[in-house]
Amino acid sequence: MTVHFIGAGPGAPDLLTLRGRDLIAASPVCLYAGSLIPEEMLQHCPQGARIINTAPMSLDGIMAEIVAAHARGLDVARLHSGDLSVWSAMGEQLRRLRELGIPYDITPGVPSFAAGAAALGAELTLPGIAQSVVLTRTSGRASPMPSAETLAAFGATGATLAIHLSIHRLEEVAAELGAHYGMDCPAAVIWRASWPDQRIVRGTLRSIAADVGETMERTALILVGRALAAEGFDESRLYAADYDRRFRAGRADAVKG
Ligand SMILES: C[S@@+](CC[C@H](N)C(=O)[O-])C[C@H]1O[C@@H](n2cnc3c(N)ncnc32)[C@H](O)[C@@H]1O
Repeated sequence: MTVHFIGAGPGAPDLLTLRGRDLIAASPVCLYAGSLIPEEMLQHCPQGARIINTAPMSLDGIMAEIVAAHARGLDVARLHSGDLSVWSAMGEQLRRLRELGIPYDITPGVPSFAAGAAALGAELTLPGIAQSVVLTRTSGRASPMPSAETLAAFGATGATLAIHLSIHRLEEVAAELGAHYGMDCPAAVIWRASWPDQRIVRGTLRSIAADVGETMERTALILVGRALAAEGFDESRLYAADYDRRFRAGRADAVKG
């Protein structure tokens, strides 16, 4: 028996990995994390599977389901939105499983920042503009930020920022980052990237809060950085005609095949 942690991707049912789909199909128990997992994904569950939305449950309740499945020798598909390496609450589940000696594995998923960038049609790392992406958030009720991980500290680098779980503080975020990036720096908000009702608002740090206006929908990502609207960037050397690459034919040590 194994607990399969599966990153279910940003929302579009066909952005689930093939491995994730096959593991769901092979698991008689499926625990999924609430409204960010589309119904279509649950159609991969086998006939008669026990399917439980864990959104209203406590960690103890979730573990009780897993322990019961373990006692019966039933594999569990544990679905979380996006990828599991960020803001999935997987860490605390893995710790309990290690304590209990219950085996698990992890299948990555498409993270929401990647779906947001795709929706914008943007590369977040452009030569000479930004070569780093910071995945971050602002403090929430469930998780305060470590004191050194401030927007100001990240903003001082000029990296592209992908700010999660913070749409309700957009005005504050834009004002704070304006001091580092300039108020004319491009910013965008993407709601429910890859869902049929995906929505995008583009603006600058000066305009973005007003551009967005009032909204009750919280599943949104804030992207900030010069890379979002840059046209005057250098081309990558990777495809330059005179760039000496091992994979180019003609080089004595070119890689074949
Ligand atoms: C609990 S975190 C989960 C992050 C997820 N593990 C990931 O890989 O992106 C939820 C936050 O991720 C962002 N998010 C998740 N799915 C999204 C989507 N489809 N479109 C835009 N933002 C999304 C939002 O900022 C949301 O508040």
